[in-house]
Amino acid sequence: MTQQRVAIVTGAARGIGAATVKRLAADGYAVAVLDLDADATAETVATVEKSGGRALGVGVDVADSPSVEAAVARVAADLGEPVVLVNNAGIVRDNLLFKMTDEDWDSVLAVHLRGSFLMSRAAQRYMSAAKWGRIVNISSTSALGNRGQANYAAAKAGLQGFTKTLAIELGPFGVTVNAVAPGFIVTDMTASVAARVGVDFEAMQAADAANNPVRRVGQPEDVAHAVLRPFVAGPADRPGNEDVRQTGCTCSACGPLAPWVISKLTRWFSSRLRYPLDWIAEWWTNTSGPPPSGVMNPKPFSALNHLTVPCTTASSPWKHTGPTTMSIPGRCGSIQDRRP
Ligand SMILES: NC(=O)c1ccc[n+]([C@@H]2O[C@H](COP(=O)([O-])OP(=O)(O)OC[C@H]3O[C@@H](n4cnc5c(N)ncnc54)[C@H](O)[C@@H]3O)[C@@H](O)[C@H]2O)c1
Repeated sequence: MTQQRVAIVTGAARGIGAATVKRLAADGYAVAVLDLDADATAETVATVEKSGGRALGVGVDVADSPSVEAAVARVAADLGEPVVLVNNAGIVRDNLLFKMTDEDWDSVLAVHLRGSFLMSRAAQRYMSAAKWGRIVNISSTSALGNRGQANYAAAKAGLQGFTKTLAIELGPFGVTVNAVAPGFIVTDMTASVAARVGVDFEAMQAADAANNPVRRVGQPEDVAHAVLRPFVAGPADRPGNEDVRQTGCTCSACGPLAPWVISKLTRWFSSRLRYPLDWIAEWWTNTSGPPPSGVMNPKPFSALNHLTVPCTTASSPWKHTGPTTMSIPGRCGSIQDRRP
């Protein structure tokens, strides 16, 4: 029997992190559930164990170097050497620039950016030694700029540069590094934003859904899907996913797109950037299975994953003509990649 692979998800006691843990466990990974308070991870761990999986809750402050070193060492000793890392832990301290305090700025940069750096540095040792690894950083569509979020936007944009750089450095060791940039997702984080600005959370969701092509808001499971499908190999019984090679990508995932929109976007990418349609379709089939006839892919968010196809490859990330920025029309932000 092949050894069970071990994944780490930070900020995994709830929200997007918890959904990603459950998804990884369902895909056959043993999962370390890291969060500030180990006790808060109990529910996520119990859910995994109830479905027959292995999980370990570990307390960590991702912004603190000794805490990170201790947590990653504990995972390696008690669960197994980690080969997948999802840098998801996050906080918001929103304020307009003139009201933003030093603490607002420092704490957000510390958790998102320094935290991802410390975690990645600690975990890559095991990945490089194993000659296989996957790092996925959770960025945000706010990386492109968002009123009241100078700190958060700077951190999330920084994460995208961090992602590309790690992709270049770690690619030769079989480690891919990518980012997923969600838009509005229903979690405690967005609920707290609604409370802070005095907007009813249900009304906030309704407003977001009204602007979405399929009239529903994103859920944590949608982001978990965007993390897992394109960027992390599936279990041994899903070999098609084993050879995931794209690296240095940022995949926007802010809302499900109706099939006709997906189809139009695919054609747009094909015509404007001259990626052959059959090439996109082949990659599509390799990663998610063949789309049902007449529908490109019914799963929410997966369309955007597919549009990240033309990224650097793990084997030769530097042999490219330079970065290409592609903007998807509409409010879904952008996918940035390098063209092979
Ligand atoms: N919810 C959204 O709309 C949305 C959109 C784009 C990006 N994101 C990003 O997704 C990630 C998860 O967001 P969420 O909505 O699930 O948030 P959440 O607030 O529900 O969960 C974040 C988790 O991170 C943990 N955490 C905070 N600081 C930590 C630290 N120093 N060390 C370890 N753990 C820490 C928290 O305890 C919490 O459990 C964040 O990086 C966030 O910026 C969220």
